[in-house]
Amino acid sequence: MKPVRLVTAVLTAAALSLSLAAPVAATPGHGHGPPHHPGHPKYAKPGTLRWAAPDGFVIGTAVAGGGHHEEQDYPDPFTSDRTYRKILADQFSSVSPENQMKWEYIHPEQGEYDFAMADSIVEFAERNGQDVRGHTLLWHSQNPAWLEEGDFSSEELREILHDHITTVVGRYAGRIDQWDVSNEIFDEEGELRTEDNIWIRELGPEIIADAFRWAHEADPSAELYFNDYNVEDVNAKSDAYYELVQELLADDVPVHGFSAQVHLSTQYGFPGSLEDNLQRFDDLGLGTALTEVDVRMQLPESGRPTWAQLEQQADYYQQALSACLNVEGCASFTIWGFTDKYSWVPVFFEGEGAATVMDERFRPKPAFFTMKHTLLKADRKGPGRPPWAGPGR
Ligand code: XIL
Repeated sequence: MKPVRLVTAVLTAAALSLSLAAPVAATPGHGHGPPHHPGHPKYAKPGTLRWAAPDGFVIGTAVAGGGHHEEQDYPDPFTSDRTYRKILADQFSSVSPENQMKWEYIHPEQGEYDFAMADSIVEFAERNGQDVRGHTLLWHSQNPAWLEEGDFSSEELREILHDHITTVVGRYAGRIDQWDVSNEIFDEEGELRTEDNIWIRELGPEIIADAFRWAHEADPSAELYFNDYNVEDVNAKSDAYYELVQELLADDVPVHGFSAQVHLSTQYGFPGSLEDNLQRFDDLGLGTALTEVDVRMQLPESGRPTWAQLEQQADYYQQALSACLNVEGCASFTIWGFTDKYSWVPVFFEGEGAATVMDERFRPKPAFFTMKHTLLKADRKGPGRPPWAGPGR
């Protein structure tokens, strides 16, 4: 099933002047559209990333909070850092809770849900005309102890997952655009994680289809995704997804998309078959997305990246963004945080860092400007830039 795309109409000059004042049915052009649209001038200030993005293409970021942040010597970034919030609202047309919708946060005790942080992110997104990507429902990691260490029968576990998906997806029905229903279910050889994923281990691989079915029942308007890392290239792991989604589609399971996280490091080459890989999923009629893009590097002793490193990083961001822009159904590009101040990278990858597009003081790096330039010159199928859209490409 193709994700629903906004139909674009040709507008006359008269209708165009109207469209700035009142909602209209059409959404032409780079960074514009009706008032509820992420690219509408009401939200998209000229010169920002979201403004530069072509119509129907959202540019997102993870919303920092929870997870590794809790061990750092700063307060919760999303709720406490005003500069952070301002950039989050201004530059981005999509947000993904970095940790706040994971099981350990949203379902901390058996039978108890805590929606406070997730709610505030969804409300922030609504105030700022942003899409939301829900992350995540079925994963082997960041599950609460009560679940991982509980002594549940398979019937009980099945009911726990059903209740979780129904409750969480149902709460945000109509407000979350894409859900990472399934996260990281295959290993590097393309084998299902039958050991470390509690759901697959205890309930068998069929639980994956059920998770999609339950999510679809709870919110028929959300696009439901498989999400993973190291699936940028055509390789054993992405092949495993390619096989699985075909089986599920043949069984009418409501799977709508495949997304690659894109956690890259400049010490490895750029995954050169990314576009071909996205295209083969697109050819199956699935949406595609890049959901957690960052490009880390091995830092010199000074701790500061060299200019050459920053240029190489910018080139990787550009290649990833271009790959997505070149695939028709790839309409969402999310970076895993926008400032090095809050990046997960130094905590998880020893000796590496500087992976985002702004430094610790929110100063844009070459990667930021390259992204904006790439968005502006994007030649997506569709209406192109409307005459009233102002300077740009
Ligand atoms: C990371 C977060 O960024 C950290 O704050 C947390 O401590 C661990 O998880 N793949 C995913 C994301 O799907 O949820 C992970 O996020 C990064 C890898």
